Amino acid sequence: MPVFKLPPNSKPRQGKTWPEPAGAKRMKRFQIYRWNPEEGGNPRLDAFTVDLDDCAPMVLDALIKIKNEVDTTLVFRRSCREGVCGSCAMCIDGENHLACLTPIDQIRRDVRIYPLPHMAVIKDLVVDLEPVFAQYHSIKPWLQAKEPAPAKSERLQSIEDRTKLDGYWECILCFCCTGACPSWWWRGPASIAEAMRNFERYLGPAVLLQAWRWLADSRDGARAERLDYLRDSFRLYRCHTIMNCTRTCPKGLNPGRAIGRIKQAVMEDKL
Ligand code: SF4
Ligand code: SF4
Ligand code: FES
Repeated sequence: MPVFKLPPNSKPRQGKTWPEPAGAKRMKRFQIYRWNPEEGGNPRLDAFTVDLDDCAPMVLDALIKIKNEVDTTLVFRRSCREGVCGSCAMCIDGENHLACLTPIDQIRRDVRIYPLPHMAVIKDLVVDLEPVFAQYHSIKPWLQAKEPAPAKSERLQSIEDRTKLDGYWECILCFCCTGACPSWWWRGPASIAEAMRNFERYLGPAVLLQAWRWLADSRDGARAERLDYLRDSFRLYRCHTIMNCTRTCPKGLNPGRAIGRIKQAVMEDKL
């Protein structure tokens, strides 16, 4: 059954307010979700003030500054700082974004930062991605060619066939889209055990976009097996075309369209 309000032990309470930086002229307040499993209790929102004249422009820059200079216990993921690794996905000002691509100036009021929604929190802004990666693994996201590779060259594609992968290969598996999908909230796996069992579980937009990426690859030889796996009322057909996924994707991709293409391929495969 869907739950439409937070259980009492998940409601954030107001946490610590850190002092404002002395002499700052352009100040911005950040309210950041904190939860430490070793302390237990409810999560809290800690308030930090950053001097924007002494901080680089992105939300990730502010998080790094806060961690380096104010509270070293703040936990979040990041790696590339260029929108390439997908690790800094979080909920900023009510929407899922990559912190490294989100300008602080874009947010008029306090910058409220929460972990990606509807995923188990490990600590602070870090969520448990094992269930979604188990779902990703289930679609066999690798080339399954029927023919052996040519002895002296790579497996080549025509320019036209290669173009069919555009809009899909760029996915960085940040899972902003999956965290924004109501169908996945209600039918995604709550744990890795559920993800491994995977029946009665919706794969969600990121994994389905990846599934289409392999179906669209002219070098792949496992189309029938891939479609058989996806032809399922839960894995695929829990998508109700709400399109939160496409609206959310920080790379400008369109998982909703990829899901539509899979549904069409499943239908054509049956004819
Ligand atoms: S279009 Fe489908 S995958 Fe995308 S948000 Fe809606 S239900 Fe989820
Ligand atoms: S489709 Fe976009 S939002 Fe979804 S995982 Fe890929 S890059 Fe992230
Ligand atoms: S740090 Fe790699 S995408 Fe943001």
